Amino acid sequence: MEQKKVYNHKKITSDYAARDYLDKPEKSIIEELKPYLKDMSMLDMGVGAGRTTKYFLPLVNCYIGADYAPNMIEECRRKFSRRNIFEVADVRDMKKFASDMFDFVLFSYNGIDSFDEKSRLVALSEIKRVLRNNGFFAFSTHNINWEGIYDIFRFSTIYRKLLKKNDNRFFKAVFLFFKSFYFLIRLNILNKALFMASFINYLRKEGHGILADNSLNGKVRIYYSSLDYQLNQLRKAGFCNIKTYSVNGIKTEDSMELNKGGWIYYLCQLKK
Ligand SMILES: C[S@@+](CC[C@H](N)C(=O)[O-])C[C@H]1O[C@@H](n2cnc3c(N)ncnc32)[C@H](O)[C@@H]1O
Repeated sequence: MEQKKVYNHKKITSDYAARDYLDKPEKSIIEELKPYLKDMSMLDMGVGAGRTTKYFLPLVNCYIGADYAPNMIEECRRKFSRRNIFEVADVRDMKKFASDMFDFVLFSYNGIDSFDEKSRLVALSEIKRVLRNNGFFAFSTHNINWEGIYDIFRFSTIYRKLLKKNDNRFFKAVFLFFKSFYFLIRLNILNKALFMASFINYLRKEGHGILADNSLNGKVRIYYSSLDYQLNQLRKAGFCNIKTYSVNGIKTEDSMELNKGGWIYYLCQLKK
């Protein structure tokens, strides 16, 4: 299914609408930006159903939340009863927004991983266009060097996860045993890989690539990158003062700490 259709699906939008927390690294990024936020004009791109709105809206001078999935934007409008601060827009084509319009663009929860490398570079150049000189860009992205990545594709992990969600009566357990096999084989097919470990090792060598993982039951294909690859991509696109945060909320350049998590959080600044 096309990625946008998945995000626009009512079941997915209401699942996102129920989320109401900030991750530790997001809290750290707010702390880092605290001195500047009150004067900032912010674009919350890929806002989803507004998980981050509640936290940023009161802190910034001007706030716009945007998403390419209209049903996500409807959820935001329902939740915050302010229709005019939410817009339907695709990050790769933001003609709705003037150049140099924002001081801060946030693309949270790996929204930027929803498309391939070519689109990612288009997205970065659009983000650059709408950002003012010295403006900030924060996002998180899937980490191909995450120490737990192989577990996603392990039969025992899939089976245990399914068992946890269900009661463990004997017949149910047997059913889930076969369902886990089905999930595993499906992931192999989606990734066109017989041995997932070798495929992951290949992507690690490349520094980036597309993986069908357990996100939204394998319905979406996810862009993964390594720390070094992502840093280079940002530098090439004109971003500097790049800070990285681990899933534990720690600001660090230490790859051991960063690779403890499936996601790495970045905060950087644009020099025009
Ligand atoms: C994983 S969800 C995260 C939603 C929200 N940021 C949150 O933290 O709950 C990713 C969001 O990015 C949006 N998205 C993906 N690709 C996009 C694009 N090209 N332009 C705008 N939004 C996009 C999706 O519709 C989805 O709402």
